[in-house]
Amino acid sequence: MVKISASILNADFSCIKDQIYALEQAGIDWLHLDVMDGHFVPNISMGPFIIETCRKISHLPIDTHLMISKPELYIEQFAAAGSSIISVHIENHPNVVRTLQRIRDLKCKAGIVLNPGTPPESIRSVIEMVDLILVMTVNPGFGGQSFIKSQLNKIVKLKQIIETTTSKPALEIDGGLNKLTLPNVVQSGADVLVIGSAIFSNKSGIKKSVDELREVIK
Ligand code: DX5
Ligand code: ZN
Repeated sequence: MVKISASILNADFSCIKDQIYALEQAGIDWLHLDVMDGHFVPNISMGPFIIETCRKISHLPIDTHLMISKPELYIEQFAAAGSSIISVHIENHPNVVRTLQRIRDLKCKAGIVLNPGTPPESIRSVIEMVDLILVMTVNPGFGGQSFIKSQLNKIVKLKQIIETTTSKPALEIDGGLNKLTLPNVVQSGADVLVIGSAIFSNKSGIKKSVDELREVIK
């Protein structure tokens, strides 16, 4: 069964508790928290405090996506805040192996993230050290962008690479997912779908939008 990890970047933070309860009621599997530093990506979002807040509100797994420079300096903080999974980008990250080891030492699941311009083969050196591969299907930094179709081939290729491993990390897709883009993504081998604006910008509400998305995935 394909999982949904709800990105709360576009949630209404004036009532975040209610929004998270609504996600739980709708049967969401994970909460996806997008951490941006205004340096690795041209936007600033949330830090460990918000992860801690979500941890107090919900028992759902917290899927923390770090879009920050020097993530190795902040792994302890994000683990202590209550992250279940911590994913770091492979780009501009000379000590990525050490960072992934540290995430696991802290009893979190480790994820590696690939930007749209990063080739699938780049994960070969770390693939046996990760629980999750996160493929960006938009340029990271903002919710509500359009899905980049050229990434479908990369998803297929990554699925093939995963099949050759003993660890079989989960394949998570992030960016521009909605009723129209989901079918191809699921068909290409996705295990986890990060969905933000298709849940929070749907006027019918959280439950209805999740039900509609699940219908498409079936
Ligand atoms: C983009 C983030 C995504 C994004 C998903 O940098 O990593 O998680 O917020 O939002 P939608 O579903 O709106 O593309
Ligand atoms: Zn994300």
